Amino acid sequence: MQAVGVYPGKKEVGMVGHPRPIIRGDGGVRVRTLEVGVCGTDREICSFVYGEAPKGYDYLILGHESLGEVVEVGADVRNLKVGDLVVPSVRRPCLREECRPCRNGYQDFCSSGEFIERGIKGEHGYMAEEYIEQEDYLYLAPQHLRDVAVLVEPLTIAEKAMAQLWLTRKRFPWEQDDGARPRGAGMKAVVIGTGPIGILGAMKLLSEGFETYVYSRSPKPNYKSELVESLGAEYFSMKQVTLEEFAERVGQIDLVYEAAGIFKSAWDILSVMGENGIFIFTGIPALGDLVSIEANRLMRNLVLKNQLIYGTVNADEFGFREALTDLGKFQQIWPEALRRIVTGRYDAASYRELLLEPSKGIKNVIRFA
Ligand code: BGC
Repeated sequence: MQAVGVYPGKKEVGMVGHPRPIIRGDGGVRVRTLEVGVCGTDREICSFVYGEAPKGYDYLILGHESLGEVVEVGADVRNLKVGDLVVPSVRRPCLREECRPCRNGYQDFCSSGEFIERGIKGEHGYMAEEYIEQEDYLYLAPQHLRDVAVLVEPLTIAEKAMAQLWLTRKRFPWEQDDGARPRGAGMKAVVIGTGPIGILGAMKLLSEGFETYVYSRSPKPNYKSELVESLGAEYFSMKQVTLEEFAERVGQIDLVYEAAGIFKSAWDILSVMGENGIFIFTGIPALGDLVSIEANRLMRNLVLKNQLIYGTVNADEFGFREALTDLGKFQQIWPEALRRIVTGRYDAASYRELLLEPSKGIKNVIRFA
C-alpha cells in the first residue's frame, strides 16, 4: 500500500510501498485512513533534525494527526466496530519499570525519554492507506465531526495545557471553582500565534470564559485575523501595534498561551505579563539561533510578580476525550470558523508541496480516501 515517509539515513522524503498491515492478536483494530493533518513536526522531520525510524526499518511513515475508519476488529475488541470513526493518539509508553508516568498511563510525561511516538519517533505513523492499533489508543469520533475531527490531535495540545493550568492555579488558595461561572471569567489571556494550535487554543480559552487577545505577525485584516475575530477574540499584529500599545490595550495579562515557537515574540509578551501571570509554552522552536533578551528583567518579574512559566507537550487520555467533547461544542458555537481552520485537502501525491515547500494556510490535510 502507499504511504508517505522519510528515509533519515538517505535524507529523503517520498512515497513508500509498505506492506498492508494485518491484525496480529485479538486486541488489534485495522483502520482505513481518511485524513492526516500536516504539522510543523512533520516538516521538521523532513528536514532530518528530528524523527526516528522504527527498529528494523530504514524509513519512517509520517503522520500523527489522523482520522480514520475502522475496517476490521480483533476478537477481543469490545468498544469499536466496523464503520466507526476513530482518532488515534500519538505517544506510547516506555518500558522502564521506574518511569512512574508511563506505568500509570501518563506517557505524555514520560520521565525516561524512551517513549515512542507514532509517525515521529520509533513507530510508523498514519500517512498510509491503513494502520493497525490497539483499541485503547483509539478514540471514537461521532459522525457529525467527520469534517473536523482531524483537528482533534492538535486540540489535545491546548487541552493538556489548560488541564495543567487549572491544576497550577490551585496554588492560589483564595480561588475556588464553584462551577457557578466559567473558570476563565474575569481573566485575560493572550495567545501568541495563529497556527492551528493557536487558533484552537483561542477557541478553548474563549469557551472557558477568558477575554482573549491574539498576538501575531501578519498585519490585519487577513484570513486568520478575520477568523480569530469571528470567534470573539481581538487580533493584534506585532507589525501594526507596538508592544507598549498592546500591553496598554490589554491591561493585566493573567495568562499567555504561546503557540508560535518563536522565542522573540514570547519574550516580548512575557516581559509585559501581569502579577501572578502564568505563561505556557506549546511551540517547539528550531535549535541553533541565539536570541538576546534582558534576562534580569525576566528573573525580576518572575520573582516580584509571582509569575510562573511552564512547557507542555503531547496529551493524555483525558486530553483526547476533552478535545472530542470540545470540538463538538466549537462546532455548535463557531461552525464556519472551525471548518475554515482546515485550509486545504490534498491527495497523497502532493506530499512534497505540503512537507517541503514553505507552509501556507492554517491546517492542510492529506486525504487518503
Ligand atoms: C505532536 C505531539 C508530540 C510532539 C513532540 C507534536 O507535533 O502533536 O503529540 O508529542 O510533536 O514530538
